[in-house]
Amino acid sequence: MSEYDAIILGAGAAGLFCAAEAGKRGRRVLVLDHAEGPGKKILISGGGRCNFTNLEATPERYLSANPHFALSALSRYTAADFLALVEAHGIAWHEKTLGQLFCDGSAREVLEMLLRETEQSGGRVECGHGITAVSHADGRFTVTTQRGAFAAPALVIATGGPSIPKMGATAFAYDLARQFGLKVVEPRPALVPLTLGGGEALFRDLSGVATEVIATAGKAAFREAALFTHRGLSGPAILQISSYWRHGEPIGIDFLPDSAAGWLVEAKRTQPQATVRAVLRSALPDRLAIVLSERLGIDGTLANTTDARLREAEARLAQWRFHPNGTEGFAKAEVTAGGISTAELSSKTMEAKRVPGLYAIGEAVDVTGWLGGYNFQWAWSSGWAAAQSL
Ligand code: FDA
Repeated sequence: MSEYDAIILGAGAAGLFCAAEAGKRGRRVLVLDHAEGPGKKILISGGGRCNFTNLEATPERYLSANPHFALSALSRYTAADFLALVEAHGIAWHEKTLGQLFCDGSAREVLEMLLRETEQSGGRVECGHGITAVSHADGRFTVTTQRGAFAAPALVIATGGPSIPKMGATAFAYDLARQFGLKVVEPRPALVPLTLGGGEALFRDLSGVATEVIATAGKAAFREAALFTHRGLSGPAILQISSYWRHGEPIGIDFLPDSAAGWLVEAKRTQPQATVRAVLRSALPDRLAIVLSERLGIDGTLANTTDARLREAEARLAQWRFHPNGTEGFAKAEVTAGGISTAELSSKTMEAKRVPGLYAIGEAVDVTGWLGGYNFQWAWSSGWAAAQSL
């Protein structure tokens, strides 16, 4: 049996970074993964350019049953820290929008950087290891794979969440956590397109139409593009709001976020002979303007419509209610919300309070970031925090 100081399960963003950092502290680390190669999600991330962090990565931009949990790791290993590493490796980058940092070249550069860092610090990454059993006795964890058995006094769960199973994602982290008596907050797809049915299925005819909106669910609000799809709604504003949406609840869409209150009544004064449809067409994509005006059910000119009716239409356009009948599920979700309960972990070290030597990091944990580099930053920060304790 091969012995190490720490075994990390999962050669994704969090696992590789944790391995590199623990290696720098002199730990002998083994990373095991069942996939044929490491970092698959890194390679496809950010449209192939990896949105590797966000300059605004503060805990308010993460969802968790404990909103304060992420603070410790995020403030000790920051976006600036990771950016310094990226620059030290000569990777060219740019800020796209809203603090989102991307590679100029390819996401592969980030993966190669992590592998280089791990290798230089003496870490070993072994892929193609289907894990068949994990046991714990006398302060040692033993991991058995189809190709051997490995032991260490510390074990890090870094196998992510079940989003995009066709890329090798599994719910293994939760099974393992439960094996050790740790609670799991119910996992659900997040950053995921929403589906429309019933009377709203008509909107699917708008497939391909995009417009800037403010999407709301409860207290959460995001101003970004929304996109109609053949199944419902997508685009950054919808992906963001999907993380906050709960089955059975509506979402609100403000189709005209720049319009001042009273704009439709004002339009009646300036262009009395125009129709609502014509006015909407000047502000929104044609096909959307047509569907919305049909739904508003106002025929005739603005001059022939009462102010009260126009104000009502304006209010509907500012808070259009959609009642999604579901999401496109884990198959299409960029991340998984929920996961290993933060109540079980030290926010400083990511170690399980009840199982010394057992750690959980990255997406496996009930900390889920917004769209825009937040999830990778959590992978780096939580991986770094664990590495300081291994
Ligand atoms: P990650 O999923 O990276 O790694 C888990 C590893 O565990 C994988 O290598 C997997 O093979 C392995 N594993 C799983 N089950 C196993 C088992 N049973 N046995 C052994 N190994 C197992 N985020 C962001 O911040 N910016 C971005 O640009 C993007 N873009 C993006 C695009 C797409 C299409 C997706 C699906 C996701 C993103 N994300 C993102 C999210 C980001 O990829 C994600 O949050 C991190 O990769 C999470 O890092 P982890 O290391 O926790 O899990």
